[in-house]
Amino acid sequence: MLRTHTCGELNKEHIGQTATLCGWVDSIRDFGGVTFIDLRDRYGRTQVVFNPDARSEVIELASKLRNEHVIKVEGIVRQRPDGQFNHKLSTGEIEFVVNDLQVLNECKTPPFVPGQKDVPGEDLRLKHRYLDLRREKMLQTLQLRSRIIKTMRDYCADNDFIDIETPILGRSTPEGARDYLVPSRVFKGKFYALPQSPQIYKQIMMIAGYDRYIQVARCFRDEDLRADRQPEFTQLDLEMSFVDSDDVIGMIDGLMKRLAKDILGLDIQLPLPRLTYDEAMARYGHDAPDLRFGMQIVDCTEIARDCGFGVFKSTAESGNFVRGINASGAASKFSRKRIDELTAIVKDDFGAKGLAWFRCEEDGTLFSPVAKFFSEEHLAEIKSKMDAQPGDLLLFIADTWEVSCKSLYGIRKRMGAELELYDPSQMHFSWIVEFPMFEQVAESDQWSAMHHPFTAPRDQDLKDLDSDPGKTRAKAYDLIINGYEAGGGTIRIHDSGIQQKVFGLLGLDAESAQERFGFLLDALKYGAPPHGGIALGIDRVVMLFAGLDNIRDCIAFPKTQKAYDMMTEAPNLVEPIQLEDLGIKVSKTNANSSP
Ligand code: AMO
Ligand code: AMP
Repeated sequence: MLRTHTCGELNKEHIGQTATLCGWVDSIRDFGGVTFIDLRDRYGRTQVVFNPDARSEVIELASKLRNEHVIKVEGIVRQRPDGQFNHKLSTGEIEFVVNDLQVLNECKTPPFVPGQKDVPGEDLRLKHRYLDLRREKMLQTLQLRSRIIKTMRDYCADNDFIDIETPILGRSTPEGARDYLVPSRVFKGKFYALPQSPQIYKQIMMIAGYDRYIQVARCFRDEDLRADRQPEFTQLDLEMSFVDSDDVIGMIDGLMKRLAKDILGLDIQLPLPRLTYDEAMARYGHDAPDLRFGMQIVDCTEIARDCGFGVFKSTAESGNFVRGINASGAASKFSRKRIDELTAIVKDDFGAKGLAWFRCEEDGTLFSPVAKFFSEEHLAEIKSKMDAQPGDLLLFIADTWEVSCKSLYGIRKRMGAELELYDPSQMHFSWIVEFPMFEQVAESDQWSAMHHPFTAPRDQDLKDLDSDPGKTRAKAYDLIINGYEAGGGTIRIHDSGIQQKVFGLLGLDAESAQERFGFLLDALKYGAPPHGGIALGIDRVVMLFAGLDNIRDCIAFPKTQKAYDMMTEAPNLVEPIQLEDLGIKVSKTNANSSP
């Protein structure tokens, strides 16, 4: 080793000892002849002192040090002068007096220094990721990620799971996103697909008898990216045999308890609360609600049905919904202008036709530009149904179920944050269960699988598969943390007949089903046990445990919104000979468009 200690190691126990440290120059301060630098490595920082009485070559070299040079120093540990202790650092009681200095490597003037207070722009950070990863926050997050994955693996090992790797080059899997394809050189014109998840492989492992599989699995999905989505991401993928929903949920409950305790020092109560999909949509307008605060949606369709406000009345009469939320105490904080802004948001982002509002005045009456259309009795009914108190602001959407869900979810989320209805460091874990099996493909009479096509219907719903597919509920469950979907899974179909039927409902005739998933349909006929599982999005779990709101900050080398790697500049053009080998002719490029 070039060093005897790390930069986070020396403390008052070492006073008087000689040592050798290596690291990066974090900052340089010159006090009339005495130079102080903070020397940094992943373990911490040590204050290093160059005294004027050091050897002249050392002083000369020290005067040329710049931020981020990599150096090696030999010297003696001494106590800092009284009053100069830094209790925030593990090395804060000592300083390191240099006898000898070696510059191991220089650093060009960097576009930003890791120690700077303000966070550099993201493009710069992604391009110079090696500098960005030197920042304290990145280091902390990646260390947290490593601890989270270790805890997950330990927990699974303690529960008899076997860690199994599945192929990256495989066949398209049906998680609903676009595939990343890899052309085959040997089978020209044919393609592998990168796995959107190891879904089918893990089911095959159950059929093979490897009860309790886990994998920290890389998944690839070519879909529109958002702050919580990356084109390649990591799952804790898990599958168990001879189980029902409660068993898988219970297993993950235990993992969450362990993670909360080991990583955050939090004691959480089990079982984690559960809400059905229908309840979640009715109360929060979304299947991944933030349950750190209330502000539930209230259905006022019945009151609207015979009120005098045309918009409400006609909505109710046409079979649609009038639903609202009570933003408790928000009346004084939300001016007319802010309400107009909210109205613009629900119209532009969610396709609502408007936002009706009522303010509950000091005397308890409801004020609203549309109040004149309501009788005293109707106003009293609204007030009571919404539990309105003086100072509250009531917001209503009259529209289809979908638009009212989306709009009210959108404003609830925004207002919860703006009104500071929860402590941002609070963690809330819950389950949404009993999802619909199918959802209607927009503007068609086609069904698509809400989770994936291998999901089992609830036993009591099997009979409805043919008659009323939209009504059937699945043995499906999502883990929700602070309003994010952190994981999702299901009990699988283990009967090839039911699997065929579900494929049929999804518009896959027997022939195409055999063509795409024949190996699974076959395997199901060779002694498939009842089985089910789940996958947790590790990047999202890290993001939530780290209190961040951007998944890119939890991944060492993430991609931009356009799935571009700014550091390596991937994707990129390849040599013509490579394309020729693959039998590929490129007909269209937009190589010059900016990444
Ligand atoms: P699902 O598609 O719900 O289920 O994915 C499971 C979890 O993975 C995370 N996730 C993502 N994270 C980052 N970027 C993405 N693009 C992304 N997509 C998904 C989410 C999600 O909850 N095979 C099934 C699991 C199963 O049925 O066992 C599956 O992949 O946190
Ligand atoms: P209008 O009748 O369009 O002038 O709207 C009167 C008020 O009702 C305005 O505040 C609108 O924002 C609101 N409004 C209109 N349509 C709806 C709707 N579908 N749901 C809720 N409020 C609405």
